[in-house]
Amino acid sequence: MSTPEISIATLGDIDTDEFRAAAHRAVEWIGGYLDAIRERPVLSQVQPGDIRAALPAVPPEEGERLDVIFEDFERLVLPGITHWNHPRFFAYFGITGSAPGILAELLCAALNVNAMLWRTSPAATEVEEVACDWLRQAVGIPGGFAGVINDTASSSTLYALAAAREAVPDLDVRRRGMEHARLRMYISEEAHSSVEKAGMVLGVGQDNVVKIRTDPNFRMDVEALQKAITSDRREGLVPFAVVATVGTTSVTAVDPVPAIAAICAQEKLWLHVDAAYGGAAAVLDSHRWVLSGCEQADSIVINPHKWLFTPIDCSVLYCRRPELLKRAFSLTPAYLTTGESESVRNLMDYGASLGRRFRGLKLWFVLRAFGVEGARRRIAAHINMAQELRRWIEAAPAFDLLAPTTFSTVVFRHRSNDATNERIHDAVNRSGEAFISHTDVRGRYALRVAIGNLRTTLDDVRVAWDLIQQAALQAARQGGAPGAGSARHGG
Ligand SMILES: Cc1ncc(COP(=O)(O)O)c(C=O)c1O
Repeated sequence: MSTPEISIATLGDIDTDEFRAAAHRAVEWIGGYLDAIRERPVLSQVQPGDIRAALPAVPPEEGERLDVIFEDFERLVLPGITHWNHPRFFAYFGITGSAPGILAELLCAALNVNAMLWRTSPAATEVEEVACDWLRQAVGIPGGFAGVINDTASSSTLYALAAAREAVPDLDVRRRGMEHARLRMYISEEAHSSVEKAGMVLGVGQDNVVKIRTDPNFRMDVEALQKAITSDRREGLVPFAVVATVGTTSVTAVDPVPAIAAICAQEKLWLHVDAAYGGAAAVLDSHRWVLSGCEQADSIVINPHKWLFTPIDCSVLYCRRPELLKRAFSLTPAYLTTGESESVRNLMDYGASLGRRFRGLKLWFVLRAFGVEGARRRIAAHINMAQELRRWIEAAPAFDLLAPTTFSTVVFRHRSNDATNERIHDAVNRSGEAFISHTDVRGRYALRVAIGNLRTTLDDVRVAWDLIQQAALQAARQGGAPGAGSARHGG
């Protein structure tokens, strides 16, 4: 059998001319997509399995042209997209994959850097260090906190708590495992599920993730926290960490971080602050206070992919003692040793994964393209729109506001009953005109409108509010439980 001739034409990458043509087309398409995004339904209207059924079950035997694949992307894939970049995406937390972020992602893929070691791309490590430090300054976290980028806040919190666990004297979990540990960690009953999940993954166990009750404004009750810690110590358990939240997922409450920090200092507990959403607001003088007390924290997470216009994924974990993060995660086999490891940062040492994307590039692009002042203006605009919506709701006799509007998220409910609220929620989302989410506020079905997209205008918020009111009238006419087949969407 003769060996086939090895040539770029037969065995290499797709020809760069074909790539250029397809890439130009894609960039044109992206521009048009963003310009005309309002014409699309926000929430994908497909049924489960529709997209899979439209795609061939077997892979193509022979390669296909990029333009053919692109056409199928438009025809077959796009109908199954829920448009997170849509200005009337108000569910969960509204976000933006901004133009500078999109551009950086394109370049990131072209460079295809694995930033595991400093030497595997010095710029990937150092741009990340600089971008994290810029963000630190922008939100007013003091010097001395070092930032590292992870995919999500779930990972950042997991890693922070792994460092906290490593810091427990005499435990040596890294070597001995959790056999002898009787660890307890404390979160508020409003903390994000990722925090409890971190407790599960770290072997702390759900039963040892103590959920502290909250005050009428959904903030962790510090007296209850202190009592829980004291009582646990009396029983021979080992408290090791408290997680405070700045901008809780459900109602965007801000835990009293200074008081929690004082308890942590007294009790020698690790304080992790989950500011995944709310931290970005600290760019504003009016909202600097949301991070007060954080200077005493051991770790803080802020997600630029939530409210800082950076495409998913980008979560920054700040640590006051990054050496503890390193102690939890560093493990260097011979093939990863480098001569310069004492003088540089090898990012593989700060988390579970070895390989890492060059995520710092998009944060750097975004911070440069908007500037800190540009970020302030945009975040302030979102907060102002949320305040306007809050005023409309307060003026509407059929609706009740359920929580303070501290950031850009408004949580409210129709006065009638849960079924009506569920109907409203489903009707708005089925319209395709806006996408809102729901949550549970003290056992009651609540509606959530979260503003965070750079294209959102007050008119968009008005469209959503009109839809909600119309749906409420309709629901009142129909009464009863929501219709069969209505989509459910978590908050
Ligand atoms: C307060 C808070 N923390 C953590 C998370 C988890 O974020 P991620 O999706 O980056 O893991 C969320 C998600 O909405 C959140 O609201």
